[in-house]
Amino acid sequence: MPDLNLLTPGRIDGFDTRNRMVMAPMTRCRALPGAIPSELAIEYYTQRASAGLIITEGTAPAATGLGYARTPSIDTPEQIAAWKKITDAVHAKGGRLFLQLMHVGRIGHAANRAEVTKDLLVAPSAIRAAGQIWTDSLQMQDNDMPRALETSEIPGVIAQYAKATSNGIAAGFDGVELHSASGYLPMQFLSTNTNQRTDGYGGSVQNRIRFVVETLEAMTKAAGSSARIGIKISPAMPFNDINDADPVETYTTLVKAISPMGLAFLHVLQSAPVPSYFEMLRPLFKGPFAAGGGFTQESGNAALASGAADFIVFGKLFTSNPDLPARFAKGAPLAEFDANTFYSPGSKGYTDFPSL
Ligand SMILES: Cc1cc2nc3c(=O)[nH]c(=O)nc-3n(C[C@H](O)[C@H](O)[C@H](O)COP(=O)(O)O)c2cc1C
Repeated sequence: MPDLNLLTPGRIDGFDTRNRMVMAPMTRCRALPGAIPSELAIEYYTQRASAGLIITEGTAPAATGLGYARTPSIDTPEQIAAWKKITDAVHAKGGRLFLQLMHVGRIGHAANRAEVTKDLLVAPSAIRAAGQIWTDSLQMQDNDMPRALETSEIPGVIAQYAKATSNGIAAGFDGVELHSASGYLPMQFLSTNTNQRTDGYGGSVQNRIRFVVETLEAMTKAAGSSARIGIKISPAMPFNDINDADPVETYTTLVKAISPMGLAFLHVLQSAPVPSYFEMLRPLFKGPFAAGGGFTQESGNAALASGAADFIVFGKLFTSNPDLPARFAKGAPLAEFDANTFYSPGSKGYTDFPSL
């Protein structure tokens, strides 16, 4: 397709997308007590329904996967019902949306989970993440010390992802994305500095990718089709104190293993220009390829035209430009995003950026 650009319609899992622009998953910290999405989130997502595909903010499969203040889950009937209102409203505007499942693993603080669980954080190994995290009651705090998951507990964690996938489909989502990026639980299994296990989930690269592969298989079963399941990875991204001794080996092995599964898409967040994981991983993956990380209209169009990707993911630009596709179509000016309100409660910086 030589003329492919951001505004060309696309296709994911048997549904058409009206353009090639994906709204990136973005945690916005506006959920209600009990990890329930708020009414404001209905307006926020509906305002952005003209994206070819919306991927929601990171959402915990179960309470033990929560680590940040005011973030949602999709486990209880109240949470599922609140999500259903969002999918109904976005669908009514002709939009499409995937739920992002995010389990924090070792990133988090007890104060952010106190209402929903007293359990410790869980991780592949009991290694505390360097760095601090915001809590509403105690301000900045060191990440808590996690405990290592027992081998016998891992099927239970994977089952939480499967249950949350069924819940997401029941809530009307078009599909579900596994968040295997940014230093959270699945990436903690993939990476050598966070995974020092000696069982079948640690050590060799084949063992380190096992958690992700088994989770995708379980999510596929729960959704009834692999074409409703996507995955996000961020090879070599150091965020959240994560580090892998050989990310090229880890991610080429992972992508080769999941390519035959028939997933909805592979979403790659590239955090540094060299080496290009887009160039490295695209030929290894049979399905749709979504590229993200610092794209503009110009670089997005160029990546599509050159065949480097099938979809381009935009994060920060969608926070301040709810009608980003229309602005690109018209060559209209873009509103600057406001990092001060990314994670603050309330409508300011969330639902008050106007469309043209
Ligand atoms: C406010 C904010 C919250 C984010 N939350 C998440 C998240 O919950 N899950 C995730 O996978 N990525 C998250 N990201 C990363 C984005 O999905 C995206 O990969 C990143 O912003 C790079 O794209 P951009 O340069 O177009 O913004 C977040 C980014 C921002 C700015």
